Amino acid sequence: MNTKNDTLTLMETRRSIRCFKPDMPPQEAIDAVIGAGLWAASGRNGQAPIIIAVTDKAVRDQISRWNAKIMGVDSDPFYGAPVILIVLADKGRPTYVYDGSLTMGNMMLAAHSLGLGSCWIHRAKEEFEAEEGKALLKSLGIEGDYEGIGHCALGYADGDAPASLPRREGRVYRIG
Ligand SMILES: Cc1cc2nc3c(=O)[nH]c(=O)nc-3n(C[C@H](O)[C@H](O)[C@H](O)COP(=O)(O)O)c2cc1C
Repeated sequence: MNTKNDTLTLMETRRSIRCFKPDMPPQEAIDAVIGAGLWAASGRNGQAPIIIAVTDKAVRDQISRWNAKIMGVDSDPFYGAPVILIVLADKGRPTYVYDGSLTMGNMMLAAHSLGLGSCWIHRAKEEFEAEEGKALLKSLGIEGDYEGIGHCALGYADGDAPASLPRREGRVYRIG
């Protein structure tokens, strides 16, 4: 069996990108990344996650300020990325956190496969527990009990991807 294929190589070579160009990727690339998120496996196929795709600069900058405030910094937590794909998941599903995380993972790999950079940016939970986050959901007609899982910052990497760190030893236990 050939254990060196493109998919496995893609998984090994994806890195979190922390410096983005302001250029907007083509809509079809953004949609392909979103599509990969929608195809993620989910507990009992409940498809609990939803994705808010933010490309509007004013809204993107506003969310950046909310996130920075939660983190207690003045800088842009999205590192200049022009696209933010926010994953939230329906808390009514027992596997919603896992489902949302897998959606994030699929999107980051899809981005890499298309030559785009991505980075999981945290604090979506706090963002959508706050009044402004709830108001944003309401403005989109999103009702129900959704928890913020993560943001996928997306765009063209500005500069080389960081070097990969070796995998920590001793994380695999084998039986048989
Ligand atoms: C749950 C989770 C939360 C993360 N939150 C952030 C974040 O807020 N900001 C950030 O720069 N990177 C964040 N990251 C990216 C990690 O720091 C990154 O995946 C890790 O350093 C390994 O690097 P790699 O993705 O290049 O392999 C997060 C990753 C995960 C899985």
